[in-house]
Amino acid sequence: MAKGVALVTGGGRRIGAQICSTLIDDGWYVLVHVRSSVEDAQRLLADASQQRNGEACGQVVIADLSTDEGLQSLIDQTHAILEGQKSVGLGVLIHNASIYNSKDYESVSLEELRLNNRIHIEVPFVLTQALTPSLKAASGCVIGMVDTSLHRAWKDLAHYTASKAGLRQLMMNLAGDLAPDVRVNCVAPGAIMAAPWEAEHFASVIEKVPLGRGGAPEDVANAVSFLVRSTYLSGQVIEVDGGWSVAP
Ligand SMILES: NC(=O)c1ccc[n+]([C@@H]2O[C@H](COP(=O)([O-])OP(=O)(O)OC[C@H]3O[C@@H](n4cnc5c(N)ncnc54)[C@H](OP(=O)(O)O)[C@@H]3O)[C@@H](O)[C@H]2O)c1
Repeated sequence: MAKGVALVTGGGRRIGAQICSTLIDDGWYVLVHVRSSVEDAQRLLADASQQRNGEACGQVVIADLSTDEGLQSLIDQTHAILEGQKSVGLGVLIHNASIYNSKDYESVSLEELRLNNRIHIEVPFVLTQALTPSLKAASGCVIGMVDTSLHRAWKDLAHYTASKAGLRQLMMNLAGDLAPDVRVNCVAPGAIMAAPWEAEHFASVIEKVPLGRGGAPEDVANAVSFLVRSTYLSGQVIEVDGGWSVAP
């Protein structure tokens, strides 16, 4: 294990999977957390291992973060793996797991609002807190995956945007609370991978992106890799959006 252990929540597919692959390329032993994408995560690690002559590149960790039991299970599994690997601590923690559904503000239920707050704020808060001693031991870093919705009125997404703004502020606050031992930053992807329900909306967004195209998961993973390597950066948000956030 060249560099140490990294944990990526929601790392089995889409952008999370690319972050896992990039961190493995960078030399990290990656704990790929999944809820349902177990086979994708197993394949990702098997492919990575095959490319490295059978070297172990990480482990799959399964937990449903919508329940307290699931969250505690992820914490316990992570501690057990760190101990089993005789790792000095946790080098990287990426809060990537997310939910993203469009719903008219007036019909959002309390249950849906709580689930968004749960996945985007409560889970990162409690998971970081539980892993803080391990992060400190490794002089580690934490990255919150947010978005470019801050200060904008994204139609039918108030439950999502409000909770992502909460995650962003949590990360900025922890950049202070966990210093000088642990660095904390955010990556804010723009239009990278459309959700199944937003193909039309996604195309209209890309028309406004100064670089003239949607981003790729690699673009996001490269920003994550950069923040992990940049040991004098903390409290920063990198917008990976092709210039969308400054478009007129
Ligand atoms: N896609 C974009 O263009 C875009 C734009 C802006 C921001 N972002 C942010 O970038 C990150 C990655 O985006 P993405 O589109 O790849 O994410 P995504 O597919 O919406 O979600 C990532 C993972 O979250 C996990 N997840 C959801 N509910 C969970 C639960 N209850 N317990 C445990 N895991 C749960 C799922 O894991 P399983 O598959 O294992 O169930 C899912 O694969 C997210 O934080 C997102 O908000 C993405």
